Amino acid sequence: MAERWRIPAALVAAVVWASMVAVPCSAEDPYAYFDWDVSYVTAAPLGVKQQVIAINGQFPGPIVNVTTNWNIVVNVLNDLDEDLLLTWDGIQQRKNSWQDGVSGTNCPIPSGWNWTYQFQVKDQIGSFFYFPPLNFQRAAGGFGGITINNRDVIAVPFGKPDGDITLFIGDWYIRNHTDLRKALNEGKDLGMPDGVLMNGKGPYRYNKTLVPAGIDYESINVHPGKTYRFRVHNVGISTSLNFRIQNHNMLLVETEGSYTVQQNYTNLDIHVGQSYSFLVTMDQNASSDYYIVASARFVNESRWVRVTGVAILHYSNSKGKASGPLPDPPQDFYDKTYSMNQARSIRWNLSSGAARTNPQGSFRYASINVTQLYVLKNTPPVVINGKSRSTINGISYSPPATPLRLADLYNIEGVYTLDFPTRPLKGASKIGRSVINGTFRGFMEIVFQNNDTKVQSYHMDGYSFFVVGMDYGEWTEDSRGTYNKGDGVARCTTQVFPGAWTAILVSLDNVGFWNVRAQNLDSWYLGQEVYVRVVNPEMTNKTELPVPDNALYCGRLQKYQNEQTPHHKATSSSSTTYIRGILLILMLLLVSVAVLP
Ligand SMILES: *[C@@H]1O[C@H](CO)[C@@H](O)[C@H](O)[C@H]1NC(C)=O
Ligand SMILES: *[C@@H]1O[C@H](CO)[C@@H](O)[C@H](O)[C@H]1NC(C)=O
Ligand SMILES: *[C@@H]1O[C@H](CO)[C@@H](O)[C@H](O)[C@H]1NC(C)=O
Ligand SMILES: *[C@@H]1O[C@H](CO)[C@@H](O)[C@H](O)[C@H]1NC(C)=O
Ligand SMILES: *[C@@H]1O[C@H](CO)[C@@H](O)[C@H](O)[C@H]1NC(C)=O
Ligand SMILES: *[C@@H]1O[C@H](CO)[C@@H](O)[C@H](O)[C@H]1NC(C)=O
Ligand SMILES: *[C@@H]1O[C@H](CO)[C@@H](O)[C@H](O)[C@H]1NC(C)=O
Ligand SMILES: *[C@@H]1O[C@H](CO)[C@@H](O)[C@H](O)[C@H]1NC(C)=O
Ligand SMILES: *[C@@H]1O[C@H](CO)[C@@H](O)[C@H](O)[C@H]1NC(C)=O
Ligand SMILES: *[C@@H]1O[C@H](CO)[C@@H](O)[C@H](O)[C@H]1NC(C)=O
Ligand SMILES: *[C@@H]1O[C@H](CO)[C@@H](O)[C@H](O)[C@H]1NC(C)=O
Ligand SMILES: *[C@@H]1O[C@H](CO)[C@@H](O)[C@H](O)[C@H]1NC(C)=O
Repeated sequence: MAERWRIPAALVAAVVWASMVAVPCSAEDPYAYFDWDVSYVTAAPLGVKQQVIAINGQFPGPIVNVTTNWNIVVNVLNDLDEDLLLTWDGIQQRKNSWQDGVSGTNCPIPSGWNWTYQFQVKDQIGSFFYFPPLNFQRAAGGFGGITINNRDVIAVPFGKPDGDITLFIGDWYIRNHTDLRKALNEGKDLGMPDGVLMNGKGPYRYNKTLVPAGIDYESINVHPGKTYRFRVHNVGISTSLNFRIQNHNMLLVETEGSYTVQQNYTNLDIHVGQSYSFLVTMDQNASSDYYIVASARFVNESRWVRVTGVAILHYSNSKGKASGPLPDPPQDFYDKTYSMNQARSIRWNLSSGAARTNPQGSFRYASINVTQLYVLKNTPPVVINGKSRSTINGISYSPPATPLRLADLYNIEGVYTLDFPTRPLKGASKIGRSVINGTFRGFMEIVFQNNDTKVQSYHMDGYSFFVVGMDYGEWTEDSRGTYNKGDGVARCTTQVFPGAWTAILVSLDNVGFWNVRAQNLDSWYLGQEVYVRVVNPEMTNKTELPVPDNALYCGRLQKYQNEQTPHHKATSSSSTTYIRGILLILMLLLVSVAVLP
């Protein structure tokens, strides 16, 4: 294996030491501590009041701003009225799927309980985000950024920007996540979203007919001549967005932990779950403010006009408000190759270092033999047992009550089957808990074949994979001839166009249970996910950390779980405030009685 993946002896020693004293993080590296209270707050991003999920009262949540190899400790208090987990999209959780925060690896944090995540951002840099993966909660918020900075000793392949700006873009419904869930359970389509939010805010009133008055919008303040790094994440439900900044070039520099070949774009398609960093220089004359736009893609724009997010880029010397029409989206309604060519143009900068001093390009993926091939095909939703479900290879995943990883630890049989088909199943679709048997240290090729009529994006936990090819039509072995054999970018979320395929390569060097899923929330909610099980056949505890002492137990392992006294009233925030109010009044009364003569 190439240098890039070699585990330093010091780390091995640290892990061995850590497993002895049951502290799962490396001792030498700094720690960052967070205390998060996850609760509903009332907001009206599109002018209609609704409950959104906030962290410490913030919507979007706080940004975890750390450096390569830091240890992160997050105490999460679940103040919602339902189960909660947080997952850290793109954080590889090396040897540590215990902290991945998805239903296959973790029991949910019950309402009113708290649970502390502890993990290391080992050998990573870049822009990622976290979100609540259960129960369609991401549609209500609960997301925030994860920024992993280079260590000082590693050069960044561009000059230090004058500022760092994180933008969350995503489609949004006025219906809350419980109502959206209900619609999906009843087999309904969610229909057109009500808008696009940017950093939790509605659109700037660029058109008085289209945008009602009184909506709070995002405004980014900048100085002329300066260069800013914009980290843009599509945290939405199911809409691909075209992102652009009026009159400004966007120099793409990084995506999901890899430095890219630096290229200017006037607009870029950002699919659900994807993250990009751009450098933007404030080189315009500031005759007015500029629009920042994220508009729905691959739809009839004149019907989907409300599904447009608009924020403002405000120069400190700006002479007035932005006005006039928004910058044009790509005019490619009849050209389905435009967006795919744009995606193919995103390549890895092979000569820049990232987490380590040695260049990224020392890992030559094309010279490694593929040991396993999976063709994963999705279809539009189908009806199984009277319910609308989505599938991969004809199987719709239904999460068991006992997490897969914990079932393995306790040798609980019958929770899942290790027989996920390598090719689409013929015959009727079925509900299942079928898992991919990944070979430890193998090299897996996964071909996502999208048989649906909408773009899908797929994400893999635990790894960064190489995006080596995509094209329209059905993938065949001959399609390998078209692969990018040199500088396919390594990332964790890729788009798959309708009627097309995308091929990825992944080196299975991380032991654990890893979730592969549709990032489009409705596809995922209806069953479009699978897990890859990677075990080291050798009996050793050097390739996986021990189960954390504070692990939660549920399902068939419930008997190992001690009850936790709920810390907070897990009712709606308003009634909590009400009860707190009454307590305060009672205390004041007591105090006044006590001090009265
Ligand atoms: C969602 O809205 C419905 C009414 O449409 C309401 O009954 C429900 O309590 C709301 N849920 C949340 C979490 O706000
Ligand atoms: C994040 O941390 C880095 C390194 O400590 C610091 O330079 C930077 O200003 C921080 N960024 C933000 C947005 O706080
Ligand atoms: C969270 O749980 C830990 C023990 O797991 C406990 O020590 C701590 O006090 C709890 N914190 C909060 C804010 O509930
Ligand atoms: C690639 O990275 C190198 C090393 O940091 C940098 O000098 C170069 O400008 C980058 N090239 C491109 C095309 O982005
Ligand atoms: C606002 O949008 C409406 C509907 O799309 C359009 O007819 C109108 O021309 C727009 N107004 C301006 C000032 O652009
Ligand atoms: C990108 O565009 C800027 C102007 O906005 C220009 O200065 C720069 O040279 C361009 N960079 C590349 C790599 O094309
Ligand atoms: C500023 O730039 C815009 C567009 O590039 C141009 O139309 C306008 O005339 C310029 N205004 C001034 C005052 O230079
Ligand atoms: C988009 O929708 C409008 C209004 O429904 C319709 O007139 C137009 O023909 C549609 N455009 C395309 C390209 O389908
Ligand atoms: C890959 O497979 C070919 C043919 O099966 C073999 O000759 C070659 O040595 C293998 N390469 C590696 C790196 O294992
Ligand atoms: C899973 O794969 C391993 C090789 O990695 C093999 O030894 C084992 O038999 C497989 N298990 C099943 C159930 O197919
Ligand atoms: C879906 O698959 C069927 C059968 O292979 C094929 O005929 C059809 O063209 C595919 N549709 C899309 C959108 O990929
Ligand atoms: C795992 O680590 C512990 C503590 O170092 C050791 O006692 C035990 O023998 C190890 N188990 C295996 C299978 O290596």
